[in-house]
Amino acid sequence: MTDTSSSQPAKAWSGRFSEPVSDLVKRYTASVFFDQRMARQDIRGSLAHAKMLARQGIIGAQDLADIERGMVQIRGEIERGEFDWNLDDEDVHLNIEKRLTALVGDAGKRLHTGRSRNDQVATDIRLWLRDAIDQILALIGEFQKNLLDVAEANAATPMPGFTHLQIAQPVTFGHHLMAYFEMSRRDAERFTDCRKRVNRLPLGAAALAGTSYPIDREFVARELGFDEVCYNSLDAVSDRDFAIEFCAASALLMTHLSRLSEELILWMSPRVGFIDLADRFCTGSSIMPQKKNPDVPELVRGKTGRVNGSLIALLTLMKGQPLAYNKDNQEDKEPLFDTADTVIDTLRIYADMITGIRVKADAMRDALKQGYATATDLADYLVKKGLPFRDAHEAVALAVRAAEAKGCDLPDFSLDELRAFSPLVGDDVFAVLTVEGSLASRAHVGGTAPDQVRAAIARARSTLG
Ligand code: ARG
Repeated sequence: MTDTSSSQPAKAWSGRFSEPVSDLVKRYTASVFFDQRMARQDIRGSLAHAKMLARQGIIGAQDLADIERGMVQIRGEIERGEFDWNLDDEDVHLNIEKRLTALVGDAGKRLHTGRSRNDQVATDIRLWLRDAIDQILALIGEFQKNLLDVAEANAATPMPGFTHLQIAQPVTFGHHLMAYFEMSRRDAERFTDCRKRVNRLPLGAAALAGTSYPIDREFVARELGFDEVCYNSLDAVSDRDFAIEFCAASALLMTHLSRLSEELILWMSPRVGFIDLADRFCTGSSIMPQKKNPDVPELVRGKTGRVNGSLIALLTLMKGQPLAYNKDNQEDKEPLFDTADTVIDTLRIYADMITGIRVKADAMRDALKQGYATATDLADYLVKKGLPFRDAHEAVALAVRAAEAKGCDLPDFSLDELRAFSPLVGDDVFAVLTVEGSLASRAHVGGTAPDQVRAAIARARSTLG
């Protein structure tokens, strides 16, 4: 191997320039301190590219061997934390290429044949994001499994269902949790769908117009596990819609977990007292000794803001860019990485936290009693006896008013008292006025009857595999 690196200019592109950039500009334009996270993907992409170049006779077999040997060494240096990342070399791509050239000489300089950093970076991000999506999908699965366990244990645990945060009708806690299972199922679908569009190969687009070398893009795609190649070179290097989609899917997932967090916080408030969270997800107060604060759910709710922010950052980054590549795109990485980190950590913590929920079934039942939660059931009962629904609604409204005045719940009235509101009331009325009766009567697919909740859980388990 020959080493001609002594004739290399300081920067990979500086041959054309008459003065160096200032330190501030260097720092402002560099990305190495955040894009080094893609080093593994960068090396993978380079090895596939080099293999293709050798197969096509664009570089020699010895060049390929040198590149492979150099990359093994570089990967080791990076993994051991020994790699010397250098701001002068701008980004992860130039840092690795420079080190490769220092290690193996001319073969290192031949690696960039038929390629540009524009298609290189687009490839690296897609490889990185594909790994992140796979990790997220596995974590959603874990969250779902644990959620189903808690739902199953509470398939028949009555709690008040709310609308307008006012007690509305009885549901079971398991049914309530299964609403979040459905949300997470759609989240998983969205990430799976997004992955299809992430998993396409930009390499070969070169700077923007393709390359005059006889490259084999399909080979590179297969080597890297991409489903297909990007079919337009300008589009391949310039669009980041796949990253925006990922952030949108992430924002929705975080929105769902933020809603669940809000509920956990409410339920855990001593004023409500429906659940307790395991101590390891809460913190105390430095001044108020009695406090146990739900910090983790609060932070999930808070971090949803930054994920939403990243989505808007990427949309805004893209909207004014003419084709093809512009340096603006370098700004895609930090919001993207931050989003993936936030989603991954949030899912990890949630999968664990959900198993640490202690359900206070008595408090849930007490709240139901105070809320006239079976009022709709009484109205439905009267309708089934022949009263038009609007009249039934009115009769029950009067009954609730009377109960409020007496300070009791509807099932506490005697038969005679109830008959005062409608002569259609018979002694079978008490079956529908109880919480259990109300729950059991909602026995259709998607309803809150405990048997239906159990069926929903079984259905969900079969989709998880
Ligand atoms: N660091 C750059 C980025 O993240 C790599 C591509 C640079 N290409 C260029 N023509 N300056 O987008």
